[in-house]
Amino acid sequence: MRSLRLIPLGLWALLLLLGASVQAGEAKGSDTKGKFFFKKSCKACHMDGGSAKALTPLSKTQAQWRKFFDAGKHKGEALSPKLGTPAQLLDIKTFLINHASDSPQPETCGG
Ligand code: HEC
Repeated sequence: MRSLRLIPLGLWALLLLLGASVQAGEAKGSDTKGKFFFKKSCKACHMDGGSAKALTPLSKTQAQWRKFFDAGKHKGEALSPKLGTPAQLLDIKTFLINHASDSPQPETCGG
């Protein structure tokens, strides 16, 4: 037991952090907020008659959405901050992945 006390506090903090990030695993933003931000930030351009091709969660599979957000590139530029704060983009990512074409609950989002 005595040797445990010799492990520096910083190391414990690091182990806790590692544990937490493993648990977090998948992106866990807010689905409902993501829907709101997707309509607000993305649909402005990505809709029929908009300046970019129409996009809905169904436009891609879960893996394809994950890849898009993990790459973090939009038209060769960084996704954030023009299109939303990191938290908002995480919400959008969560919404799109949760309702992708191969998800358990596919959703067109009125688009
Ligand atoms: C200012 C207009 C604008 C906004 C806002 C915008 N986009 Fe785009 N986006 C474009 C244009 C233009 C392209 C490239 C041409 C195209 O795909 O229609 C593009 C391309 C894309 C592509 C690649 C197309 C494909 O089929 O893979 C994805 C994915 C995408 N945008 C997702 C998003 C998401 C998610 C958001 C919101 C966070 C967003 N865009 C917001 C204009 C916009």
